[in-house]
Amino acid sequence: MVTGGSSGIGMAISKKLADQENWHIVSLSRSQKKIDRAIEQVPELKNKVEFITGDVSKQDECERVFSMLNKKYGLLHALVNNAGVVTWGGLEMIAVEEWNTMININLSGPFMLTKAVLPLLKKAHGASVVNISSIASMHPGTSVAYSVSKAGLDMLTEYLAGDLGPYKIRVNSINPGLVKTNLHLDNKVFTDKDDYLVMLDKAVARYPIGRIGDPGDIASLTSFLCSDEASWINGAIIKADGGATLFNDLIPPKKV
Ligand SMILES: NC(=O)c1ccc[n+]([C@@H]2O[C@H](COP(=O)([O-])OP(=O)(O)OC[C@H]3O[C@@H](n4cnc5c(N)ncnc54)[C@H](OP(=O)(O)O)[C@@H]3O)[C@@H](O)[C@H]2O)c1
Repeated sequence: MVTGGSSGIGMAISKKLADQENWHIVSLSRSQKKIDRAIEQVPELKNKVEFITGDVSKQDECERVFSMLNKKYGLLHALVNNAGVVTWGGLEMIAVEEWNTMININLSGPFMLTKAVLPLLKKAHGASVVNISSIASMHPGTSVAYSVSKAGLDMLTEYLAGDLGPYKIRVNSINPGLVKTNLHLDNKVFTDKDDYLVMLDKAVARYPIGRIGDPGDIASLTSFLCSDEASWINGAIIKADGGATLFNDLIPPKKV
């Protein structure tokens, strides 16, 4: 199961896991419109991914997902808690409602869904949970609520690694840097596409590797963490950011 498989990173992860592992993928997201957009962009998704609608921030919907998976499949090999939203600003800018939404989706969502489907993960006798966090969890970023929600998610990863390890369930976190997806436009952090593209362009200067991320960069690492190749990796918080968090502007620029 991949949450948020209808867009960006979750869509790339769903496709990768379907292709590479030959797994049946169930994607959970809220809007049918975004599911239709995804299928229009990549028609093959229709055969590879079973899209269902639901909201990870609602406990009864997480429990409904468990009932559906239990009835239809009876076990779950991997859960990718990828669904997330973003907002903008510090204490004075952000409304309490926005804070609550951010925490409910980005942090309580992974907690509630993992709790709901735990009986199915146990039955896989070697399952993997991957939480898609952010480098914004590691130092204050552009949004207080986003950074705090992702910092909480990192601790959830570390806590559950110890808690669920005895059931042979590994829990790891991937912390991407800036990746070009629909996140900032769909959540209206940018209302103008050109402004968004200018921001992406400027951001490249902070990425030593010379580019921002592609959803495929996160999909390949997720696929590895879900595979048996990663059977001893548990509780890891893994940056996938082209070196952005180590950017050092004291090193003289190179002409390459
Ligand atoms: N893009 C970046 O630069 C970046 C960097 C670091 C980390 N991340 C993280 O990567 C993850 C994926 O982001 P993305 O960039 O791929 O964003 P995206 O393109 O906006 O995709 C987000 C997906 O999550 C779903 N979603 C949002 N809220 C949900 C909810 N309450 N319940 C179920 N599904 C929900 C969305 O569908 P609906 O809206 O229809 O529900 C959509 O399918 C997020 O957790 C994000 O924080 C992204």
